[in-house]
Amino acid sequence: MIFESHAHYDDEVFDKDREELLRSLREHGIEYVINVGASLAGCKNTLRLTEEYPFLYGAMGVHPGETGELDEESFAWLKEQCAADKVVAVGEIGLDYHWEEPEASVQKQWFERQLELAREVDLPVIIHSRDAAKDTLDIMRAHRAGEMRGVIHCFSYTKEIAREYLQMGFYFGIGGVVTFKNAKKLKEAVQYIPMDRILLETDSPYLAPEPHRGQRNSSLNLPYVAEEIAALKEISREEVEEITSDNAKRLFRIGQDAAAAR
Ligand code: NI
Repeated sequence: MIFESHAHYDDEVFDKDREELLRSLREHGIEYVINVGASLAGCKNTLRLTEEYPFLYGAMGVHPGETGELDEESFAWLKEQCAADKVVAVGEIGLDYHWEEPEASVQKQWFERQLELAREVDLPVIIHSRDAAKDTLDIMRAHRAGEMRGVIHCFSYTKEIAREYLQMGFYFGIGGVVTFKNAKKLKEAVQYIPMDRILLETDSPYLAPEPHRGQRNSSLNLPYVAEEIAALKEISREEVEEITSDNAKRLFRIGQDAAAAR
């Protein structure tokens, strides 16, 4: 069975067929889904989805690109939601310098606040880092992220950066990008990262793998990602699915030994 570690099923592009799609996941081998909050509205909708679907868990966080909407009041609200039963992570949080807004100082401030929040509520973090490798690492080191648990979502940096996160004990979310022909550096990084640190993710509705690149993505496309990782690691697709699922259950404390882990 497959563990989808990062999707945004609250996105409006799923409004027409969300229920049908989500209800079909299990029969296609998707056992669990983490729906990741990226804005305050996204967090609210994520909470609602966790109530509707037993196999769906939530992450509460505000994406760097949306941090302009945060203030003390909404941050306090975010913190309260972390106590909900099916909230298993803080995310996605981080830095994204691909876009100019909000400015870096705003992104950094809320990245730091949300990292500390995760420490306080003792949940793993889901990190979004784009075109910001150095600042992300600096902030994580300054906040002793090595003592925390988490995943670098949509890992898109080099082997050298991967080594730094491995030393911190972090996991790596690998998705559709690894199937792209031009993703040479990422393929190298995946060969380098030990299997017990890899999670499968889609970032749905974004980043659909080949042969569906450019289309709306969903967890149903995860076998293509698993297949590519299997080829890079020279193991079977089934092994990739099994190991990454075990990894995700361990990180998010979901599944049979959840009671013991908590
Ligand atoms: Ni995402």
